[in-house]
Parts: sequence; C-alpha cells; structure tokens
Amino acid sequence: MNKALRKAVIAGNWKMNMTPSQATALINEMKPLVADAKCDVVLCVPFVDIAAAVEAAKGSNIKIGAENVHFKASGAFTGEISAEMLKEAGVEYVVVGHSERRQYFGETDQTVNLRSLAALNAGLKPIICVGETLEQRELGYTETLLKFQTKMALTNVTADQLKDVIIAYEPVWAIGTGVTATADQADEGNGYVRQAIAEAYGEEAAQAVTVQYGGSMNAKNAAELVSKVNVDGGLIGGASLKAQDFSVIVKAASAE
Ligand code: 13P
Repeated sequence: MNKALRKAVIAGNWKMNMTPSQATALINEMKPLVADAKCDVVLCVPFVDIAAAVEAAKGSNIKIGAENVHFKASGAFTGEISAEMLKEAGVEYVVVGHSERRQYFGETDQTVNLRSLAALNAGLKPIICVGETLEQRELGYTETLLKFQTKMALTNVTADQLKDVIIAYEPVWAIGTGVTATADQADEGNGYVRQAIAEAYGEEAAQAVTVQYGGSMNAKNAAELVSKVNVDGGLIGGASLKAQDFSVIVKAASAE
C-alpha cells in the first residue's frame, strides 16, 4: 500500500443546487480558502452552472466537473448532454453512476460503463460512483457488489485510460443521511474497489488509482477518513455547498 503513488482529490457534488449566479458567488468565496491546497480540488456542478463556474474558477486551482454525461456522441436524445459538449464548455471531470441516478433515473452498471467510456474517449476524467445499499450490506454482499460494480464500470477501459479514472465509494446508506461510514468501513470499501482494479489491471496499476470516499463527509470527520491508506480524498455533497466547510475538508486532504 502506498498512498504517495496517488494524488488525493476532493470533489464537490452540488447535485440539484445553486443557480448560475449562486455558483459564481460560492466559487468566488471558495477560491482564496482553497488556494494553497495540496490535493486536487474539483466542483461538479449542474449543467446550466458550468459556464458561470468555469468563468469564476479561471486562474484558480479549482477545476470544474459535470454531474452526468450521455454515452452517445450526438443524436436524438432530448435533454441529454454529450462528452464533447462538456469538454468544449471547459469541463475536466464528470460524475458517472451516482447512486441517485441509479436509484431514480434507471442507471445500470452497463450504462455507467458506457458513460465512463464516452467520458474517457473525449478526454474527460470520470468520477465513477459505486456503493452498496444498507440491505446489501446487511446481507453480507458489500465486497461482492463493490467488486462487481467496479469491474462492470471499467469494462473495455484500457490500462492507459485507467490513469484518468477516479472511483468514489459511496455507501448508499451514508449519502445525505448524516450517517457516515466509520473510517474503517470507508477504508475497507475503498480497499475492495482497489482489489477489483488489481484483479483486472494488476497491483501496480491499482495502486495508482485515486479512490475517494463519499457519504456525509464533512468538516468534522474528513481528517479521520482521509487519513486511511485507501481513502484518497472524497466526493462531498452537502458540505460542498458551504465554502468554509469545503475548505476544511480540502485542508484535511492536503495534510495527508
Ligand atoms: P452527502 O455528502 O450530502 O452525503 O452526499 C454525498 C454524495 O452523494 C456525493 O456524491
């Protein structure tokens, strides 16, 4: 295990929050607070906020991501957004397969894979989300499920493309609930993800992949979570909407 092989990434996922003018104000507030970060700092924002966010983040160390991407390059897919559109808009990262999309919008392991490939082929870095429900955990399926979701998401992703992949372990029961996984549970879940990558690409490649934890990570619990060997930063929902809280999380990851 060597944490030094990979960079921690703290990414905010704003979900369906913030108008463009609110996005500008929040990023302007965040910029000085995260300027000396030693980890990568990303904000994944609603599609309509991208232009304002890219403009506000210009010249800073904040990188902008989207919250989803369609898997086709173009065509009759009303309401969808392609990877090329995101790329041209200045987006560098994109969340793929968030559990809210799996739960409410019919996302499957197959479409997560297709979206990841579309992102990678366009030069975007996918933040691929995996995670078990409480029921799956209680039935003892956490390891099996995390490994399956990880391998499915990475089908046909080349070893070279793997370098641009981030995986976020987000236990569904910890998202937006205020119930955080313990640091040991996060480390264990992230470890299963890394084992799955090692099984598919070899140990050396797996050691280089950033694996985040997500689920009620906040200013209070971030330091303990990111201190774990398998936790390379976080994907932050609620706490990424508050400049001060988000910057404390960035500082925690910078100290690792
Ligand atoms: P919360 O941090 O609000 O629990 O959300 C986590 C998450 O889903 C990030 O993608």
